[in-house]
Amino acid sequence: MSGVTSQNTNAEHSELRILGFLCNWCSYGGADTAGVARATQPTDLRIIRVPCSGRVDPLFIAKALFNGADGVLVSGCHPRDCHYSAGNFYARRRLEVLKHFLPILGIDPARFEYTWVSASEGERWKQVVTRFTEQIHALGPAPKFEDSHPLHAMVDMALAPLAPLGTGDPQLLSSVKEAIRKKLPELDCVIGWKEGRDGLHTVPHFIRTEADLEELRIGPFAIHNLATYLPNYKGKKIGILVKGCDAKSVVELLQENLIKREDVFLFALPCQGILDMGRVDQVLGRYQHITSLKTDDKTVTVVADGKEHHFPISQYAPSKCYSCTSRMAQDADMLLGNATQIQGTPQTPPELAMLDAMSLSERMAFWKSAMDRCIRCYACRNSCPMCVCRDYCVSDSRDPHWMSQSDATREKLFFQVIHTLHLAGRCTGCGECQRSCPVGIPILALRQHCARVIRELFSGYEPGTDPKAVPPLLGYQVEEEHIKEREWK
Ligand code: FES
Repeated sequence: MSGVTSQNTNAEHSELRILGFLCNWCSYGGADTAGVARATQPTDLRIIRVPCSGRVDPLFIAKALFNGADGVLVSGCHPRDCHYSAGNFYARRRLEVLKHFLPILGIDPARFEYTWVSASEGERWKQVVTRFTEQIHALGPAPKFEDSHPLHAMVDMALAPLAPLGTGDPQLLSSVKEAIRKKLPELDCVIGWKEGRDGLHTVPHFIRTEADLEELRIGPFAIHNLATYLPNYKGKKIGILVKGCDAKSVVELLQENLIKREDVFLFALPCQGILDMGRVDQVLGRYQHITSLKTDDKTVTVVADGKEHHFPISQYAPSKCYSCTSRMAQDADMLLGNATQIQGTPQTPPELAMLDAMSLSERMAFWKSAMDRCIRCYACRNSCPMCVCRDYCVSDSRDPHWMSQSDATREKLFFQVIHTLHLAGRCTGCGECQRSCPVGIPILALRQHCARVIRELFSGYEPGTDPKAVPPLLGYQVEEEHIKEREWK
């Protein structure tokens, strides 16, 4: 690039680490024009030239901020001027989602901006780089994840999940078995739940014969989202038992052409809530035997090693039940019972509400303490119904080398950022990631926050509700209703 004349922007801070991703066709040319004109501008910015702003993966920015950048600027061609027609339109949606997502990690969103500068706009480039550099200097050096003191915070699960919650109709099991028995000859397999290591814990159950039906469990023990298994059965006719939330994953898999509707038979179960087994296990602690297990209409009562424990569903529902919008699958092939109507309006799930109430530095400290427990088992990824490229997962890739094998908490949180951003506009909030986490990290809150951002930016878009809908990050509008990027000049 032609010579840039430096300007000492701030006497208090020495130069900060600011990274710029500039589109080759416009903004890089604009920076060059400013340089040729010998425009005075700050020298903190380190420029990476990219073919188009559409080439900028939001993870580039997140990785830079995680690894010590004090600020990141992306600049491309003005809308309608992209050399590749629409690269900047796609970029705008992705970058706006990232900007709204950063605060949940404890990162100030003002550390990242994106804008448009054409090749002839040397003067505008000078203003952009000066303003952004001043903005970052006003914020000062970015707080380091390593420097924050771990903050151990307990989630207040006392918020009331949406009523009515309970253990469901005890008579339902026999009619479900009968319905599956009749349909089974037409199917290769029906996926449900059965008893696992003891009567309290269930595991997925692959029903191929009438004898297998005897082991079926439902009610508050219908815990796993079985849609996770569907992409593995391509070309087979599979029946699957789904709760309202699980059915959204099926719809999302259909949206992405990962399964075929004619290959899947949906048995819709009415749901009145399930048990959050993480919290149940915490209460039970270590035990040898479950000696008795009873359910009344509201509570599961367990006797473990002679000690009685009561688990009312209204107090032991997982966080996804707080924002439930559908107690029964919408587009099922067979309805097995009647859904209860939800009373009240969906609430902010408790873990997300706790993060909302924290300052940016508290959130960073919270994630530091929470992610310190992560053992990098990737159960969150493997149980996610929408995480379908696990053989080519970027966390395993060495080319490009997105993540190191280090057990630093920063690296572990960065994997959660990758997972969340790859699920943006696709995650249905089924909570399998958090359910399968062996150390109980509330990672679902990251996905729930991202889903909230998607709803706010894209007119209430809900993944998994319309099999024909195009996910928002796969499309664009020339004029976006809720994105006002041109207000930052
Ligand atoms: Fe410049 Fe696409 S070529 S933004």
